[in-house]
Amino acid sequence: MKPEFATEESMRAYYAQRAPEYEAVYHKPERQATLRRMEAWLPPLFAGRRVLEVACGTGWWTPHAAQQASAWLATDLNEETMAVARAKPQKPGCVQFARADAYTLAEVQGQVFDAAFIACWWSHIPLARLDAWLATLHCALQPGAFVLHVDNAFVQTSSSPITRRDDEGNTYQTRSLSDGSTHEVLKNFPTAAEAIARLGQRARDARWHDFTHYWALSYTLT
Ligand SMILES: C[S@@+](CC[C@H](N)C(=O)[O-])C[C@H]1O[C@@H](n2cnc3c(N)ncnc32)[C@H](O)[C@@H]1O
Repeated sequence: MKPEFATEESMRAYYAQRAPEYEAVYHKPERQATLRRMEAWLPPLFAGRRVLEVACGTGWWTPHAAQQASAWLATDLNEETMAVARAKPQKPGCVQFARADAYTLAEVQGQVFDAAFIACWWSHIPLARLDAWLATLHCALQPGAFVLHVDNAFVQTSSSPITRRDDEGNTYQTRSLSDGSTHEVLKNFPTAAEAIARLGQRARDARWHDFTHYWALSYTLT
């Protein structure tokens, strides 16, 4: 069956359907060494912080990254993915979950965060929406907040191939689920310079971290 073109709704629905099998991607043998390195790198970055996690999915990163945080709110639009995350052992009294749309973050307005963690979400944002999305994220954070984006690097031998590029420069992959369905997914792979150029005027001390199968971008907000 020919996949439908990716839309905001098809992306949400794809991840809801994929929730039970999502974490297979974290069992790929070639990524294990990198993942162990990142698990060790993450906890001190959020030590003592009140953290907003956007698009947490099944919460694969949450138990690692939240270890030293003082409070951690993990959010996602899909209850299906968050149900997997909620079932995991989490740092007691620290990690909570809430449904929130990453594009508006309306559901977390008024809460105080001095850090944000966002994994594998930047790559799914259409380029035309990226600046507005970053502005929305930054608005939800206090001055001095620490921000960390983690996302997939394109690795020929490990990543799904790019199947389409649109007029705006977004790239797409065609992915299959275990029920045989196929889905077109918007997935961009920015360079360090392209990502840093998007951060806007409040970002200071931007640093790009190369983890072979993943990239990370950290900065502090004025
Ligand atoms: C690639 S997964 C990333 C999950 C997790 N952060 C990780 O790195 O394993 C993308 C997540 O975005 C969520 N999502 C899709 N549309 C969303 C939206 N508009 N707002 C918030 N989350 C959304 C999906 O439910 C899915 O869990």
